[in-house]
Amino acid sequence: MAIPCGHRPDNRTARALVSNLNRTEEIMGNHAVARVSELPPGARKIIELEGRSIGVFNIKGAYYALRNTCPHQGAPLCSGAIKGTLKSEKPQTYEIVKEGEILVCPWHCWEFDITTGGSVFNPHRMRVRSYEVTVEPEEDDPSVETYPVSVESGFIVVHI
Ligand code: FES
Repeated sequence: MAIPCGHRPDNRTARALVSNLNRTEEIMGNHAVARVSELPPGARKIIELEGRSIGVFNIKGAYYALRNTCPHQGAPLCSGAIKGTLKSEKPQTYEIVKEGEILVCPWHCWEFDITTGGSVFNPHRMRVRSYEVTVEPEEDDPSVETYPVSVESGFIVVHI
């Protein structure tokens, strides 16, 4: 569920997120994060990979992955609303473009293009980290480790 712009957690959480933002690290591995059927066009999934929170998006059938940290003050960017943005060629005329491709930060409403990671207002200087996403064929007999799951008092609980 998208968090509306203007929601902001306490300062301690914000400082921790900004601290994470300042680290420069690379993700080296390949990770299967969802089946194609789990992420239809317009859907997103926020996951943890190697200590990073990352949002994976299906935008009109193409997949994109962004760091879930806003470059402004560290908000959980990938939980923001997905919209279009306004484009204006001359005064008093505008059009909505890139509908369904613009991610709006839930804290201060900075807008980012999900397809590039660039900000709408200054795409060459302000970006959110993005990652390559591919679709790989499923194995004939995929065998993965499974864990028991139960429902307890309205919560889905994974038992590891
Ligand atoms: S934290 Fe300020 S716009 Fe994202």
